Amino acid sequence: MSKLWGGRFSKKTDKLVEEFSKSIHYDNKLAEYDIWGSMIHVGALFKSRYLTRDDANKLLVGLKEIADELDPNKFIYDPNCEDIHTDIQNKLQNKVGDLGLKLHTARSRNDQVVFATKFYCKFKIKEIQEAIGELVHTINTLAEENKGIIIPGFTHLQHAQPVYLKDYLWAYIEMLKRDTHRLQYIAENLKITMGAGALAGTPLDPNYGQGIKEILTGKVSELLQKFKIEAVSNSLDTVSDRDFIIEIIAALSIVAMHLSRLSEDLILWTTKEFDFIELDEAFCTGSSLMPQKKNPDVLELVRGYTGRLYGNLVSVLTMMKGLPLTYNRDMQLDKEPLFNSFEIVSKELKVLKGLIATIKFNEKKIAGHLEDESLYATDLVYYLVQKGVSFKQAHTIIGELISYSLNNDIKIKDVPEDILKEKFSDKIIKKEFNQLFNAKKSVDSKLSVKRDYDLNIFKTQE
Ligand code: ARG
Repeated sequence: MSKLWGGRFSKKTDKLVEEFSKSIHYDNKLAEYDIWGSMIHVGALFKSRYLTRDDANKLLVGLKEIADELDPNKFIYDPNCEDIHTDIQNKLQNKVGDLGLKLHTARSRNDQVVFATKFYCKFKIKEIQEAIGELVHTINTLAEENKGIIIPGFTHLQHAQPVYLKDYLWAYIEMLKRDTHRLQYIAENLKITMGAGALAGTPLDPNYGQGIKEILTGKVSELLQKFKIEAVSNSLDTVSDRDFIIEIIAALSIVAMHLSRLSEDLILWTTKEFDFIELDEAFCTGSSLMPQKKNPDVLELVRGYTGRLYGNLVSVLTMMKGLPLTYNRDMQLDKEPLFNSFEIVSKELKVLKGLIATIKFNEKKIAGHLEDESLYATDLVYYLVQKGVSFKQAHTIIGELISYSLNNDIKIKDVPEDILKEKFSDKIIKKEFNQLFNAKKSVDSKLSVKRDYDLNIFKTQE
C-alpha cells in the first residue's frame, strides 16, 4: 500500500494516526464514481497534452478493468489504504506500472471527493425517488381498495370529524409528493464539476466532456452525454462546500419524519383501543414473556430511526459551522452520516411498502367508532346555520346541547323534540336533525376539497 503523499516526511506515520485518519472502510462506496472521475480526468490530461494518446488509452484500459471488478459483493478494497481514492490509484499502478502515477497529475483528493460524492448522490436520490414512488403506489392501492371506508378524523388525538380513509391515506401521499419534489430540486442543482485542484484550480483545459469525447468510450462516455461535467466556477468554494450533503440529509430527514408519522398512525390503529387495522403476522414480532403479543416493532423502528436521521443532520451542520476555507479533514466525516441516511430511508421505504400491502381494515370496529355523536357536532352547527342562525350562536347552542347530553347521560338523537326546541333552538326539526348523524352524509357535504389525486409525479424522473 503506498500513500498519495510522503516525500517531505522522514518518519513513518504512527499506526494510531493511520487507523484514526482512514476512511476506506466507508468511502469504498464511492469506488465506481471515483473511477468515472479518473477516466474523465485522463481525458482532460490527454486533451491538455499531459498524456499521449497511447498512455491515456493504457490508463483507461486499466481503469476499466478496475471498474469491471466492482461487483458490490465481490469488490475487494485494500483496508490498509487511507481512502478509496488512494486504493484505486494503487490498483491502477498494479495494473499499468509507473504510468499509473501520471493519473494523479494536477489532481487533488479534495476535488475527487466532491466529484465522487456528488455523483453518488445523483444516483442515490433517484433510487430513493423510485422507492418513494413504489410505496406511494402501495398506499394508493390500499386507499382504492378501501375507498368506501370512512373513519373518525382526529385533532389533538380526539375525535374531530369523519373523513374518508382514502383522503387520510392520501395525506401521506401528498407529503411524499413534496419529498419527491424536494429531492428532485436538490438533484437538479447538484452540479458535477472538476478542476478545483486542492483549492486553487489546475492548469488543465476545463472543457470537460465535449473535447475529450474522442478518447472516452463505453459507460463513461454515456455518462458524459447524460450528465454535464462542468468546470468549477469557484475552486475554493467547490472543495469546501458541503451544502449539498446538508440539503440531502435534511430532505431525507423530512422523508423519515413523514414515515414516522405514518408509522405512529398505524401503531395507534393496531391497538385494542382503536382496532382499525390488522397487520400481517409476517410484519410483526412477539414477546419472549407474554405469549399473546403481536407487536408492531417494524413501525416502532421506523419511528425510532428518525432520530438517527436528525442526528446525522445535526452532526454535519455542527461539523461545518466553524471551518475556515477551504478543505479541512473534518469534512471527511460527512460521509458516514450521508450514507447512513440514504441507507435508513431506503430500508424504511421498502419495509413499509411490504407492510402496508398486507394491511386489513376492520370495518365493523371502525363503524362502531363512527357511532360517536360528537363526530357530527359540526354538522349540527351547519344545520342551524342553514336555518339562518349565525355560526357563533349555532356553535354555542350545539355546545350546550352536547353538555346537556353528557350531563343527563342521554344521546343527542334521543333528546325529545320539545326539549330540543325549548331549550336549544325552535329551528330544530328532530327528523331532519337525526339524519345528520351519518358519516357518509357528513363527508360528502364537504365541497371545498379538490381531491386532485394524481400519481404522475411519481413516474420515474429523468
Ligand atoms: N478521504 C478524504 C476525505 O474524504 C480525502 C481527502 C484528503 N485530502 C487531504 N488533503 N488530506 O475527505
